[in-house]
Amino acid sequence: MPVSTGALPITAKNLSVIEQSKRLAAYTAVDKHILPEHKIIGIGSGSTVPYVVERIVTQGNELNKDRVFIPTGFQSKELIVMSKLNLGDVDQYPTIDVTIDGADEVDTELNCIKGGGACHLREKVLAEAAKTFILVADYRKNVEYLGQNFTAGVPIEVVPFAYAKVLQNLQHVLGSPNATLRMAKAKAGPVVSDNGNFIIDAPFSREDMKDPYTIMARIKMLTGVVEVGLFCHMAEASYFGNEDGSVTVK
Ligand code: 5RP
Repeated sequence: MPVSTGALPITAKNLSVIEQSKRLAAYTAVDKHILPEHKIIGIGSGSTVPYVVERIVTQGNELNKDRVFIPTGFQSKELIVMSKLNLGDVDQYPTIDVTIDGADEVDTELNCIKGGGACHLREKVLAEAAKTFILVADYRKNVEYLGQNFTAGVPIEVVPFAYAKVLQNLQHVLGSPNATLRMAKAKAGPVVSDNGNFIIDAPFSREDMKDPYTIMARIKMLTGVVEVGLFCHMAEASYFGNEDGSVTVK
């Protein structure tokens, strides 16, 4: 449902419409879900999350000095440190009040694809650890079904030793003939996650993606798979910034 959020500074001249939309979603979600009583906060990864941290910083040092922020990877750790917020780890704080994270696509049931930045293992740990898990994204990520726009496929983290076997199984057994190993820019070698693993991107048919939980469970059964970038029924809400300055909340 689109809602008006006229109070937000959506008209900043130096931001593209997409960046403005990300910021709008992030600011709205922080205002709604990061409350004074929330002390342990999970910070996701990607290009929308810096706006989450930016908004949290504006809540002031009085509130933030009593809070601990848990990162989902190297990027969010840097963000927390650079913003002079208190850094913690999920092994110290296995229960998190609220985690806010980005998404590559979110369907009508709040299932989502994550892992465009290869962080989905730690992102899923922080999503599961959170009492409330919230997604933020620009309007392009708001879809009816998973795979609608994000055609790169489902990100799958695999241990390097097993990648060729997992790839073969995805292509020939699980019905993803175009599954590929994610390569770093300029084909400098495989992308390596913060956990030292490889990433496979596996596109599935519209038919398979109608039931993301089943496809996720089948992929997870493959030996060597560490985590799958399908988050099913985990998010409580998702906020999408729109081009016209409104926010769609699912
Ligand atoms: C990283 C992720 C990101 O949250 C996801 O790719 C969305 O990123 P962005 O906010 O840049 O669109 O899952 O693994």
